[in-house]
Amino acid sequence: MHMKNIAVLFGGCSTEYGVSLQSAASVIDHLDRSVYRIIQIGITREGEWLHYQGGSADIRNDNWHTHSSCTPAFISPSQGSKGIIELRGTEFRILPVDVVFPVLHGKNGEDGTVQGLLELSGIPYVGCDTLSSAICMDKGIASQLVRAAGVETAPSVTLYAGDDLETAVNAAEKLSFPLFVKPAKSGSSFGITKARDRTELIEGIQIAFSYDDKVIVEQNVAGFEVGCAVLGNSQPFIAEVDEIELSGEFFDYGEKYSLQSAKIHLPARIDADMAAKVKETARLIYRTLGCTGLARVDMFLADHGRIVFNEVNTMPGFTAASRYPNMMGYSDLSYSKLMHRLIQLAMAREING
Ligand SMILES: Nc1ncnc2c1ncn2[C@@H]1O[C@H](COP(=O)(O)OP(=O)(O)O)[C@@H](O)[C@H]1O
Ligand SMILES: [Mg+2]
Repeated sequence: MHMKNIAVLFGGCSTEYGVSLQSAASVIDHLDRSVYRIIQIGITREGEWLHYQGGSADIRNDNWHTHSSCTPAFISPSQGSKGIIELRGTEFRILPVDVVFPVLHGKNGEDGTVQGLLELSGIPYVGCDTLSSAICMDKGIASQLVRAAGVETAPSVTLYAGDDLETAVNAAEKLSFPLFVKPAKSGSSFGITKARDRTELIEGIQIAFSYDDKVIVEQNVAGFEVGCAVLGNSQPFIAEVDEIELSGEFFDYGEKYSLQSAKIHLPARIDADMAAKVKETARLIYRTLGCTGLARVDMFLADHGRIVFNEVNTMPGFTAASRYPNMMGYSDLSYSKLMHRLIQLAMAREING
């Protein structure tokens, strides 16, 4: 079989740079070397793109960019010079690429920016396209579309930088406490706080505005969070539902990556009928937001069997312990097989448009 060149992008100018390193190192470890030749492109926190040729351990511990073999390299937007342009002093060479796997989380990677560049490059890439990535990155816009499709969402107000704080707080206070205050474009719980009163609400709004110029204040959904790993283009496969059991206030950064008091239950502790409803809702959300390739659709299960939308992650965590590969694994798709499937889907989307 013809070897395929897979470019794995990692790092990125995002608060989730560190998470991307962990995800990408696992992706690299699980790509089958007998069929894939891997080109590792790291993006530093400052936004410099480098071709890295060392092992995955130095990606995990963030030493990759100290390797002297790193050379500037970036994806060409020109169809005339298709591939990765690598600079060596005043010389350059073009590395041909069959598929790009952007293992980037958050801004400047999961939000449609890199997907736009990949679209121009004409190289097939893993995951959602530009529009879908951008929509899913903005929690406010994603919620509006999902609500319009008939799925329940938490009552919320949207604030913009430059709004009068007093008026904004008064509008947000009309919702009942406790409230979740979130940067519209965030991930890994960065900038998210739970406000129990007006003082905490004001503090929360200020924190959220330090991450984004658009902030969502959302009513607390009493219940628990469930997730669906979705894989595919027009006829996606949905793996078994998982559940987050919290003992603290919410699934914050520390809990997400250390699970000190939170627990993930796979499968979720819900009956078969409810699991089927959750999967159908995830399918509707995936379709509504134009997702392709993969996404993790997160929802809350509230009283009376209500399913409430939370958010969609178009490049969910990909460490060997992450929820998305675990859910697929539980449904008999091992991490390595998942890699094959994602690459196939990227190539199929290219052909089908
Ligand atoms: N409206 C809400 N009601 C209850 N819990 C919430 C709500 N919004 C967020 N949370 C909690 O905060 C966590 C992070 O919020 P989320 O919107 O998923 O942002 P992120 O993109 O950072 O994961 C969720 O996993 C959940 O525990
Ligand atoms: Mg989340």
